[in-house]
Parts: sequence; structure tokens; C-alpha cells
Amino acid sequence: MGGLSPVKKLGLAVLISGRGSNLQSIIDACGINDFPAEIKVVISDKVDAFGLTRAHNASIPTRIVSREECANKAEFENKILSTLNSFDIDLICLAGFMRILSSDFITSWVGRIINIHPSLLPKHKGLNTYEKAIEAGDTESGCTVHYVTAGVDEGDIILQKKVLILPNDTPDTLAERILIQEHIAYPEAIRILSQTKL
Ligand code: GRF
Repeated sequence: MGGLSPVKKLGLAVLISGRGSNLQSIIDACGINDFPAEIKVVISDKVDAFGLTRAHNASIPTRIVSREECANKAEFENKILSTLNSFDIDLICLAGFMRILSSDFITSWVGRIINIHPSLLPKHKGLNTYEKAIEAGDTESGCTVHYVTAGVDEGDIILQKKVLILPNDTPDTLAERILIQEHIAYPEAIRILSQTKL
């Protein structure tokens, strides 16, 4: 009587291809009472992605949609779309998902797909971002959570976290420090989006 009715949490689909440490950071955040989202399904395009184990350990439903088992990209994406439709999804979080989605797919979810990228976009799009930042002589790098649009790594930025690049950094040492920031950034970005109308 008289209490506030609980606010509906955002339903997340997390798409992965591998290790899933960002997935883990979202799983951990969802364990916090006031976190405004819950993971409804984890979708992997790789059967052996370690992130699937993380999802199982957290009792989150998983689906594997393998590109190799589909005749073409359209069939692959249709399988993902129908999986998304079978859960109550508000937001797709790409977390180390190593496939480029078509503009048709993105258009059907535009404004409701986000990604994390290990550089300070618009610098160093694509792969090998740590090497690129060091080779460019940058003094700082970091990570970016951004909306996904048809242009790879080009959507509007939701938030960034910075780290200094140290004189003796290698791509591996830099990646390690950026990853720590990624794990803070992704849950924070989801909190921000929960306050907007998706
Ligand atoms: C992260 O560095 C992320 O920024 C990039 O892919 C990596 C995925 O790592 N998009 P994990 O699978 O979340 O551990």
C-alpha cells in the first residue's frame, strides 16, 4: 500500500564471441539491487566462447548462432533477430562480438544497440587499437561506449574512460589497464541509457 511500484528494468541481450570479461562486468552490475537492467539472454557466434560459461554460472539463458552454420549473412542475422524477439529485449550490448552487423540489422535496432571499443574514439577504429595508440605517440588512450551505426565504430559516444600511456607500455600492458576501465564503463553506460527513452 502506498509504495512506489518497481520500475521495469531494461532487458539486455549481450552479444559475445569470446572471453566475455565485459559480459562479466555487466553480470556483476546486474547483481546490484538498484541496477536498472537485467540480462535476458547471451548470444554467442562461437560455440567455445568462455563468456557462455560465465552466463551459465549466472543462470542466464544462452543461444549460439554460428555464422558457419548459416548459408549467408542474412540467415545468420535473421536467426539473431528472431532470438532477440523471443526475449523481452530493450537494449543490445555488443561485448567483444566479432561480427560486423549489416545496416539492415542495425536499422531495425537503431538507438538500441551499443558497443564497447578499446580506444578513445574517433581515434583508432577497428582492430589493434593498443598498437595504433602507442605507435601514434599518444599520451593517453582508453575506452568508448558508443551507439552502433552502419559505420564501424562511428556512432555517437555515450561515455569514455581514459588511461595514461606510460613510456614503457606494450600493447598488452596498455590493454590490461584499459580493460579495467572497460569494466567500469559498460555498466555505467547502461545506467545512463536507462534514464533515456530507448
Ligand atoms: C574488449 O577489449 C572490447 O573493448 C573489445 O573486445 C574486447 C572484448 O573482451 N570490443 P571481453 O570478451 O569482453 O573480455
